[in-house]
Amino acid sequence: MTIDEIRTVCVVGAGTMGSQIAHQIALGGYPVQLYSRSAERIQSAVSGTAALLQKRVERGKLDADDCQRALDRVTASTDLAEAVAGADLVIETIAEDRDAKRALYPQIDAVAPHHAILASNSSTMPSSFFADLVSSPERLLNIHFFNPALVMQLVEVVRGPHTGDDAVDTSMEFVRRIGKAPVLVRKETYGFIANRILFIAMQEAFKLVEAGYCTMEDCDLAVRNGLNWPMGPFELGDLVGLDVTREILSQGYQQTGEERWAPTPILSDRVARGELGRKTGKGFYESKR
Ligand code: 3HC
Repeated sequence: MTIDEIRTVCVVGAGTMGSQIAHQIALGGYPVQLYSRSAERIQSAVSGTAALLQKRVERGKLDADDCQRALDRVTASTDLAEAVAGADLVIETIAEDRDAKRALYPQIDAVAPHHAILASNSSTMPSSFFADLVSSPERLLNIHFFNPALVMQLVEVVRGPHTGDDAVDTSMEFVRRIGKAPVLVRKETYGFIANRILFIAMQEAFKLVEAGYCTMEDCDLAVRNGLNWPMGPFELGDLVGLDVTREILSQGYQQTGEERWAPTPILSDRVARGELGRKTGKGFYESKR
């Protein structure tokens, strides 16, 4: 599968990540089928992303016609077979739930064209978790975007032991063609590159505050002003979602057995209370939805 053979893309899952990824791909000129089980979910995800693009137009950062063309390239579907059938590349962006993903891959495999590359946007699950479920694992890998996907440049392309050279090369070039900066993770490892570094730093922040060394406000200020991160770890947790943050850490603990990844109460208690960050209006901080 060469880059020129990629003509249509399907994004499976219409959360914040799925919708922004679909629109980034559409901005790159590709028609995109965006699939979700729920029509309402697609509608709210697409209208939220369209509003972000519209703001870019208002600020003079995106041409109005280019914006409209990108919006027109995204077609919503609640029928998996219809969404996947014509796709040369399928990017799965559903929740970080291993059972749900394992249930989905055989369904995608049954309806995807035989040549299609199958990619997971999972932060924590390497594609080898699904390699036994698809007919051609050489076309399976991770293509991992960062939040917010319309803004963040990095995309990690992660090669599994089963992944073929063509799928890797084509995915790297595809990421460049949609205006992002790919890096290749040559072997699967928990957290890939960026999350492996980020989430251990987040853990240190959580532990400092839990142990009473500083407030979370001062911790965020220290990291913003001392390390030049655009956001402190607590603000970033709210952006990423505290449920996602907790799941990433908990997967780290499960996959490596290392205590340093184990989620701590400052995070787990909020998740248990449904305080998940920006998406619920409250996480570490109160925020506008
Ligand atoms: N969704 C989409 N676009 C957004 C956005 C959002 N939630 N928030 C801001 N933006 C856009 C704005 O529209 C603006 O776009 P423009 O320049 O094209 O007009 C641009 O981002 C800058 O926005 P602002 O000027 O309003 O705000 P900031 O300068 O404060 O930037 C930020 C906001 C880009 C979110 C910045 O604070 C940032 O980079 N934060 C760190 C994000 C980060 O580290 N992400 C990685 C998280 S880990 C991850 O994703 C891995 C996964 O596996 C969990």
